[in-house]
Amino acid sequence: MINIAIDGPSAAGKSTIAKLLAKQLSYIHLDTGAMYRCCAYASLVNKIDLNDIKALEEMMNTIQISFNEKGEVELNGENVADKIRTNEISMRTSTISQYPFVREKLVKIQQDLAKSKGYILDGRDIGTVVLVDAEVKIYMVASVEARAKRRYQEYVNQGIEVDYNNIYKDIEQRDYQDMNRKVSPLKKADDAIEIDTSQLTIQQVVDKVSSIVLKKIKK
Ligand code: DC
Repeated sequence: MINIAIDGPSAAGKSTIAKLLAKQLSYIHLDTGAMYRCCAYASLVNKIDLNDIKALEEMMNTIQISFNEKGEVELNGENVADKIRTNEISMRTSTISQYPFVREKLVKIQQDLAKSKGYILDGRDIGTVVLVDAEVKIYMVASVEARAKRRYQEYVNQGIEVDYNNIYKDIEQRDYQDMNRKVSPLKKADDAIEIDTSQLTIQQVVDKVSSIVLKKIKK
């Protein structure tokens, strides 16, 4: 077994692909974005201002983040998988994930879990920080337009009314924040393979990544 790192900007399809691939290979998928979302959610519930570093540090010392057997994230033992998916939490997460003390705690949990092989981690810093020795590194990208369209469709399918232009702007803003923060900014690892998913179906991307992984396993 090996470890697989999948990085890329928001809505490029990382989690969807990682989940399907994990099922196909009988690997364990770890959605690291969900962990950062948990921190943002905890700060919202506890009404902590994102500029209040002291309060945030205290919060990080007390919260517990884990995954249940279905791979859904839990905050202090509560399943919050659905509650962390709002647009408000997305923007808050992009901000809170800039703090080194937030990242240190989560990176440690991720590295401890993936000590044994057979993990697929998706996020922003997996190939560059969390699992620098991962045997396969994928950098998944897609145009802002393709990603905004996908997100828009997801909301429409759920019966949620949203404005396409706002989604487009939010994706651009999160890209900027994630790529330009001081600590562990989103960037392609030197040894990562880039896949542009703009014109590909989910199955086509799964097939591409899966063939890269199988080649590596057979070596
Ligand atoms: O993958 P996602 O959209 O759920 O991630 C939400 C935010 O969390 C994203 O804007 C950046 C941050 N994040 C991060 O900084 N590092 C990771 N490994 C995963 C996510």
